[in-house]
Amino acid sequence: MSYSAPKGLFDLLPGQKEWRDSELWQIVEEQIRETAQEYGFHEIRTPIFEKTELFIRSVGESSDIVSKEMYSFLDKGERSMTLRPEGTAPVMRALVESKVLNDNSNQKVFYIGPMFRYERPQAGRYRQHHQFGVEAIGCNAPEQDAEVIDLLMMLSDKLGLKNLTVQINSIGNHESRNRFRDMLRNYLRPNLNELSEDSQRRFESNPLRILDSKDKTDRKFLEGAPSILDALDSESADHFEHVKKLLDSIDRSYIVNPQLVRGLDYYNGTVFEVMTENLGAQNSIGGGGRYDGLIKELGGPDVPSMGFGAGLERIIQTMISQEVNLTEETGPLLYLVPLGDEARLACFGQLNELRNCGISAEMDFTGRKLRKVMSHANKIKAEFVAVVGEEEMKNDQVELKEMASGESRTISFSKLPIEIMQQFSTGQEELLQDMAGQLMQLLNVNEKEK
Ligand code: HAM
Repeated sequence: MSYSAPKGLFDLLPGQKEWRDSELWQIVEEQIRETAQEYGFHEIRTPIFEKTELFIRSVGESSDIVSKEMYSFLDKGERSMTLRPEGTAPVMRALVESKVLNDNSNQKVFYIGPMFRYERPQAGRYRQHHQFGVEAIGCNAPEQDAEVIDLLMMLSDKLGLKNLTVQINSIGNHESRNRFRDMLRNYLRPNLNELSEDSQRRFESNPLRILDSKDKTDRKFLEGAPSILDALDSESADHFEHVKKLLDSIDRSYIVNPQLVRGLDYYNGTVFEVMTENLGAQNSIGGGGRYDGLIKELGGPDVPSMGFGAGLERIIQTMISQEVNLTEETGPLLYLVPLGDEARLACFGQLNELRNCGISAEMDFTGRKLRKVMSHANKIKAEFVAVVGEEEMKNDQVELKEMASGESRTISFSKLPIEIMQQFSTGQEELLQDMAGQLMQLLNVNEKEK
């Protein structure tokens, strides 16, 4: 019997030459954490499943996510639970529950984690995908909207993504949306029977989503549809103008798309989406907007919020299709090859010392023939190899072989970490100098404390 991952799910493995390479994900995740922190966002982690009711209440019953895509199940206590299809509702639930929002303070949080949606799998669309999301709570200033949009673009710049388009829109407050729903229904009503089945179904329940339709006939009818921007209340219109001005002032380009509506019910005011031209149909790498009423709806204080979620799969796939050069694959700086039991024990000790000094090192545990071990060291891209046998231990001297050049040099075995820091002139030179500097500082401090 052999097993495969369930449909629409995938594994991340080291050493893959494509988007499922776990090391590539690590690099991207590191960049995300760094950028989020530079913008003042702090990490939050919530469980991967929640009570089903949370998503119905927040994402909305008529949304695709709630009406057909949730992985819901009854637990052993017959309570309905759902694997989180998105991150905003769980984060708001967590913040409300922990009462951190009660003192009116601003909160800026980010998360990275898996989300689950029962969608028809295709390139760029999976049943488990991963999102990087940010949520800025407590501030209704247009600067907050611009900062959140800028953060996603700054991250994209740092990751080397090109040719992205930012689409923005404002869907106004509750009253302006109601006004617009009527305008849109009046416009579509004469052709209602010709619209796609989905759009006919949405006509009463959620006509705004018709604007999102990819159906060709729907698109034709939508060409002359009224613009939500003409139905905006004056506060939302001013706010939107201000957001645009701020984006202009920092040279973040955007396109106003009055037909951009988001598929989740909690939004109001500014909404946005970042598109790539490299992914075909699933071309949104991230999207978000304001959701000023959600926290109150979930039992918390009436505070405004703004955020986005971005799909890591789509970001990484775009990087690959744009041939972004991330880093060269590197292996350990040093690979130790012990010959005999005594050397094994001594090498294991030195391995630990090297790692304590922050030097990447590995050691052969297999005891296989030297030829095979050397070929393995080559494969994992070790920069240097040291073979340690009885003789080397007795003389306290080892030959360090540089794999690329084949050249060797002799250094002390018992002082391996220090010797490496002093002698090596490799790609890790700066790092080593840094560490040596830190060590010296530590030694000085200790000396003074005595
Ligand atoms: P969303 O637009 O549903 O928004 O998802 C955000 C991003 O997740 C999408 O732009 C896409 O890159 C990625 N994504 C969604 N579904 C899939 C899938 N099946 N396969 C691969 N990638 C996918 C939200 O989830 C909101 N919570 C965003 C937000 C945060 N709004 C305010 N704060």
